Amino acid sequence: MSQLTIALTKGRILEETLPLLAQAGIVPAEDIKKSRKLAFDTNMPNVRLLVLRGSDVPTYVQFGAADMGVAGKDTLLEHGGDGLYSLVDLGIARCKLMTAGIKGSAEKTGRIKVATKYVNVARQFYAEQGRQADFIKLYGAMELAPIMGLADEIVDIVDTGNTLRANGLEARIEIADISSRLIANKASMKMKHALMQSVITAVADAVDS
Ligand code: PRP
Repeated sequence: MSQLTIALTKGRILEETLPLLAQAGIVPAEDIKKSRKLAFDTNMPNVRLLVLRGSDVPTYVQFGAADMGVAGKDTLLEHGGDGLYSLVDLGIARCKLMTAGIKGSAEKTGRIKVATKYVNVARQFYAEQGRQADFIKLYGAMELAPIMGLADEIVDIVDTGNTLRANGLEARIEIADISSRLIANKASMKMKHALMQSVITAVADAVDS
C-alpha cells in the first residue's frame, strides 16, 4: 500500500486546513495543536501529516520529502513552483500581497529600499513597474522597517490592515490576491496517482461544500 505524506503550514493556515481535511476524511490521530511533534499519523493508515513553517512546505514537496502540501500562494510565488503542481484553491487564509509605505508620505522617486520576506516576488514586481529598488530580506515585523528608516516601502501580506494602521503605514499597490493552495510533487502524482487523486477529489469536494 503506498504511503502519502502531506506537509501542512503551521499557524493560521493550519487552523483553517484541519476542518477541510476532516471533511475530506483525514483526521490526525492526536491533537496537533497540543503537541510539539512535527509528524502525525492519521485515521488513514497510509496518510501522514507534517507540520512545517510555511516557507518550507514547497521545498519539502518539491524534493519529494512530502507528496502533497498546503501552502499560501504568497509562499508559492516566492518559491517559484519548480517541481510542483498547484492543484486546488482551498479558499482559506485569504489576504492580499501589497506594497505599503508611511501614511501620507509622497512616493519616493529614484532608487528606493524595499524590506520584505518576498524578495523574488518584490524584485519582479518593482521591475515590472519600472521602479529601481534595492531589497532587504526580513523574516517578520516588516511594518517596522519604514518607521525605523530601514526601508522606504515594504511588501507584505495584508488581511485586516490593522498591522499597517497600528504602525502608521498605508497600503499602496496590490501585487496579488492570496489564498492557500493544495500542491503536489510532480513525480508523486505519477507514482501514487490513484491515492493522490482520491485525496485531491475529497479535498476539492470539501472546499465546494
Ligand atoms: C502577517 C503579516 C502582517 C499581518 C497582516 O503577519 O506579515 O504583519 O499578518 O495582517 P493584518 O492586515 O490583519 O494586520 P503574521 O501575524 O502572520 O506573522 P508573520 O510576520 O510571522 O508572517
